[in-house]
Amino acid sequence: PTVLLLNGPNLNLLGQRDPHQYGSTTLPQVEQRLRDLGAELGVRVTCVQSNHEGELVEQVHAAHGSAGIVCNPGAYAHTSVALRDAVDAVPTPYVEVHISNVYARESFRHTSLTAAVASGYIVGCGVFGYELGLRAVIERWTSGQE
Ligand code: DQA
Repeated sequence: PTVLLLNGPNLNLLGQRDPHQYGSTTLPQVEQRLRDLGAELGVRVTCVQSNHEGELVEQVHAAHGSAGIVCNPGAYAHTSVALRDAVDAVPTPYVEVHISNVYARESFRHTSLTAAVASGYIVGCGVFGYELGLRAVIERWTSGQE
């Protein structure tokens, strides 16, 4: 089974961007950690980052039939009806991760359009949230197989 780790806009800057909010771990480090954890748990983790809304939509479509999606949509969580509809259209388990505690920040970050159609939502746990997300997706997928 394959799990997609999908990161949205500006997450390529992880490690340099606002370390007070997002920490010092880089995206390649997060991706390697998830591939390793996936290998331990018996899934192949494929990693994609894009700054483009339409590319994120297409990646969600392409993950149809996979074991799941762990996604940090970045700011598109707050704005993208298109990404929300894509997640809703694809039955693949989708767990959303936000590194920072969006509820402790500006009010425009308090709404996630995509969270409303997610099977899980992990917020404010730092980059450790991605590990939690992967474990949650695998748990959903496994229980769906039984
Ligand atoms: C974020 C939170 C978003 O509000 C922000 O636009 C990001 C990162 C997070 O991981 O905490 O790009 O998704």
